[in-house]
Amino acid sequence: MGTGPAGRIYDEFSQLIGNTPLLELHRYRKNRDLPGRLVAKIEYFNPAGSVKDRIAWAIIKDAEETGRLKPGDTIVDVTSGNTGIALAAIAASRGYRAKFYASDNISPDKIRILDLFGVEVVPVRNEFFLDPEALEKITNRIREENPDAYFTDQLANPVNPQAHFDNTGPEIWRDTNGEVDFLVAGVGTGGTISGAGKFLKSKKPDVKVVVAEPAEGSLPTEENPYPDEIDGVHKVSEIDPQLLPGNYDGSVVDEIIALETADARRTVRALASEEGVFVGTSSGATLWAATQIASRPENAGKTIVVVLPDTGERYLTLPSDHRG
Ligand SMILES: Cc1ncc(COP(=O)(O)O)c(C=O)c1O
Repeated sequence: MGTGPAGRIYDEFSQLIGNTPLLELHRYRKNRDLPGRLVAKIEYFNPAGSVKDRIAWAIIKDAEETGRLKPGDTIVDVTSGNTGIALAAIAASRGYRAKFYASDNISPDKIRILDLFGVEVVPVRNEFFLDPEALEKITNRIREENPDAYFTDQLANPVNPQAHFDNTGPEIWRDTNGEVDFLVAGVGTGGTISGAGKFLKSKKPDVKVVVAEPAEGSLPTEENPYPDEIDGVHKVSEIDPQLLPGNYDGSVVDEIIALETADARRTVRALASEEGVFVGTSSGATLWAATQIASRPENAGKTIVVVLPDTGERYLTLPSDHRG
């Protein structure tokens, strides 16, 4: 269980991670007459601003404890920004250097934050990820180009889902007093859904786990490699299981809801103006999917916990029609 920031002077950055709050979205629900209860887990309360602080710390701690990471070493990974920022912040607090491979379509704000942390960013053209073997290829490239660095491998490192099994899931269980019927999240690496979903099902087998994924119009293609995308989340339905991230465990997933980026952005605006909570695009996506679940009459009175991974402030320099 994360130690969480409250009530004392903390000794180090990593102690501030986790124990993020749950907020019931009363006004948002009332405005739409939704039969189900919506409860948001607001991950921007983490000290480096996203859900990824959890896995970054778990992975670094594991590497330190097993002697694979020593002061002065360099950390490398492929990231759409948040994992890089989380790793960079923890690296700074513990004396490591960092280098990240990132798709060249990620939010300029994230690149600026990485730069501010002194990180070396290697841009990868977005088309590269159209290759069905992209994940394997980029993993091999990172290992080849950085033989002496510690590759955190968020896509397949089992410490990632384990951090959500040990922290995110138990926090939701504790803070809802076990009154949780649905968990809704997106899939970047699959860590959140696989770890927290598995934990909640171990406590209450009829908890339903729902994934929000980008629909066709929000995915890159050969003709349009730079569409307006939902930063950080990927399509998981109708994908060859071998090509999914190693940390995505489809067996815990009960339903997948697809949506376009424009719907995610509208939901970001709605949440900001109706509840005062300003989140990133992937949070708009998870809340949009959670809203579909909450609107079903059979879900009257059910509690739907929706994970909101990061803050909208991380996307402010996108062109204005691409913001929340
Ligand atoms: C903005 C954002 N939302 C959602 C996710 C999904 O989280 P996970 O990697 O646990 O599947 C990520 C991860 O890459 C992300 O950066």
